[in-house]
Amino acid sequence: MNLLITGATGFIGRHLCAHLTAQHHTVVALMRRPHELPNLQASVYSLGGRGTLIKAISGDLAKPKLGITESLAEVDAIIHLGARFAWQLEYESAYTTNVEGSLAIAELARELGCRLVFISGFMLENLQHLNQLGINPAQPERTNWRKVYRHAGAYEASKLEAALKVRSFAAKTALDMVEVQPATVAGHSHTGELDAAQPLFQLIDNLSRGRLALVPGTSEHWLPLTTVDHLVALITAAAIAKNVPERLLCLDSDTPTLQQMLALVGGSIGVKPPRRYVPIPVLRALLSIPGIPKLMNTYPEALNFIQTKRFDTSITDQFLEHQELLRPEIGLAIEASARWYQQSALDKRRA
Ligand SMILES: NC(=O)c1ccc[n+]([C@@H]2O[C@H](COP(=O)([O-])OP(=O)(O)OC[C@H]3O[C@@H](n4cnc5c(N)ncnc54)[C@H](OP(=O)(O)O)[C@@H]3O)[C@@H](O)[C@H]2O)c1
Repeated sequence: MNLLITGATGFIGRHLCAHLTAQHHTVVALMRRPHELPNLQASVYSLGGRGTLIKAISGDLAKPKLGITESLAEVDAIIHLGARFAWQLEYESAYTTNVEGSLAIAELARELGCRLVFISGFMLENLQHLNQLGINPAQPERTNWRKVYRHAGAYEASKLEAALKVRSFAAKTALDMVEVQPATVAGHSHTGELDAAQPLFQLIDNLSRGRLALVPGTSEHWLPLTTVDHLVALITAAAIAKNVPERLLCLDSDTPTLQQMLALVGGSIGVKPPRRYVPIPVLRALLSIPGIPKLMNTYPEALNFIQTKRFDTSITDQFLEHQELLRPEIGLAIEASARWYQQSALDKRRA
């Protein structure tokens, strides 16, 4: 198949390109800096893929009509990963890239008559959380989005707004769309490879540097995870399989609680993990003090992802079984990610 991918240069995107090209699929990467294609091809090779099967097309999610000027060859599916992904984003930038850019990609899929695999996030399945933010998923147009951006932060709010508006667009235009909803992404289950900008890497870094003296939440709180290799295998199946459910929640229900996870990480990097807890509202209040988030390298909006809710993954489980895809053991993947972190810190010091 020939797949158009946005966000190909990102953490998930590079692994996805490696997975797809290793299976002989061809990839057209929509890139803001297409002259950097050789770097992407090299990193795809290092991840076990075939870099020569990737081409680049110049484009920008934040530009009108995606900034695409050349005509596109036949595309079998679009996989939309591209997004501004960071805490403390400005409203304008998050809205333009994540919401308007996603709607433009959905329109492109409609014009090309191909499937859209849209990557949202697992918080779309926490209906109580959506309700607390004032979002009714069935009627996104009735939501006071500015308020949601203030409460949830621009990254999460823009991802929620984009997903709900793209769902409405797909329903109105009968677009063939699959929404993949990833949990927080852990490193590769074998190598532990994880980008430094990823939230789990930041959490490990905080533990390593002694910034995590207390566990956020209670003994029930957890940060649901999935591994990057499992996620890209699921995305690939979502793009290629004939019968795919409308939504696939990519989340490992066996992810340990946050305290147990920190113990696994601590054991792997030789750091004593915290045992006592700090209630989330107390931590949130502390992080509202100017300067503290930067000092602690923790932002209030990141706390939304740490929760007690358990998720129903039965629809995805059936699809995985049908596709003969197995979830890697998440505890081992957490330990591999922690070892990757430690090795990259060592390499950085040596350099
Ligand atoms: N990682 C997670 O834990 C997680 C969990 C749930 C959902 N997700 C979703 O998964 C997707 C990919 O995440 P990731 O972790 O791979 O993110 P990432 O490493 O930050 O990569 C983001 C990608 O988006 C591209 N991008 C940003 N702005 C763009 C623009 N204006 N036009 C075109 N491309 C643009 C970047 O390209 P440049 O090279 O040009 O910067 C990069 O390729 C995102 O939609 C994210 O919301 C991630």
